[in-house]
Amino acid sequence: MFKRFRRLRTNQAIRDLVQESILTKNDFVYPLFIKNGKNIKKEIESMPGVFQMSIDEIVKECIALEIMGIKAIMLFGIPDVKDSIGSDALSEDGIIASTLMEIKKNVPNMYIMTDLCFCEYTDHGHCGIIDHIHQSVNNDATLEILSKQAIIHAKAGADMIAPSGMMDGVIVTLREALDKNGFKNLPIMSYSTKFASAYYGPFRDVAESTPSFGDRRSYQMNPANRNEAIAESIEDEKEGADILMVKPALAYLDIIRDIKNSTNRPLAIYNVSGEYSMLKVAGNAGVIDYERVLMETMIAFKRAGADIIISYHAKEVCEILDKN
Ligand code: PBG
Ligand code: ZN
Repeated sequence: MFKRFRRLRTNQAIRDLVQESILTKNDFVYPLFIKNGKNIKKEIESMPGVFQMSIDEIVKECIALEIMGIKAIMLFGIPDVKDSIGSDALSEDGIIASTLMEIKKNVPNMYIMTDLCFCEYTDHGHCGIIDHIHQSVNNDATLEILSKQAIIHAKAGADMIAPSGMMDGVIVTLREALDKNGFKNLPIMSYSTKFASAYYGPFRDVAESTPSFGDRRSYQMNPANRNEAIAESIEDEKEGADILMVKPALAYLDIIRDIKNSTNRPLAIYNVSGEYSMLKVAGNAGVIDYERVLMETMIAFKRAGADIIISYHAKEVCEILDKN
């Protein structure tokens, strides 16, 4: 006697009935990159299909996203002027604050998350204030300006704040700052387990945020560490994070499952720039069936335990879901 697993694979109807993981448009967050100016829509060479856009174009994009069924976006600002502390991010009329107000005015139902970090705003490209003696980011000094940045985003209309800089104590610090300023109900999604990854390469082209010296290994995590990966997310849950995250995604499916099994908080994954570009390049070269590999990758994230998928593929996935 042996088990005939194939009985439940006979045709599409039964395969659909027993399918365990399901992908829907509700799972997705679409990242957007904002530049100053007007009528700007500049494709990024290393990320075909991803653009830097001016605010007017971002508003048009949000209207299109809403029609397609994408309900949530993540904003990244690329200011014209960068300095040592990322002043644009601390200004009430900086690029993100202006974008938030413009989207909320024109597309009020779009759910807007903001990436909270300084690497796109500093001239040195690091995620916070540099401690010149140690040639690294000063954790506690950066916490202070992160609080200011969060309040600016909150006042401008952000629906959720997403700190991505891997500073210790950031969640408890932001929670206190938000609560004190009247934003008790504003949720925080923590980039809680974020690895120092070479998969971020193309993002640094689009966000113009490559560090001018050194790398991020003194604050982002070592890809070799599993116990620490779980501890990072659990600590952020304790500090009050509403949603946890693993980033990157594809090379870290084991970590996604480990953290999913260790928490009752919703779990997001960030399907990062390098993962996107690899699929695009392979698809354009004709060496893979692009759509099938794409959908197989997305369902793998769900199966691993992702509740939310942040992905540059979000629009393509919606189009494929509509076809089927
Ligand atoms: C900023 C930030 C990065 C990404 C998201 N937020 C870059 C980095 O840490 O270097 C990467 C996203 C991607 O590669 O798509 N801290
Ligand atoms: Zn950063």
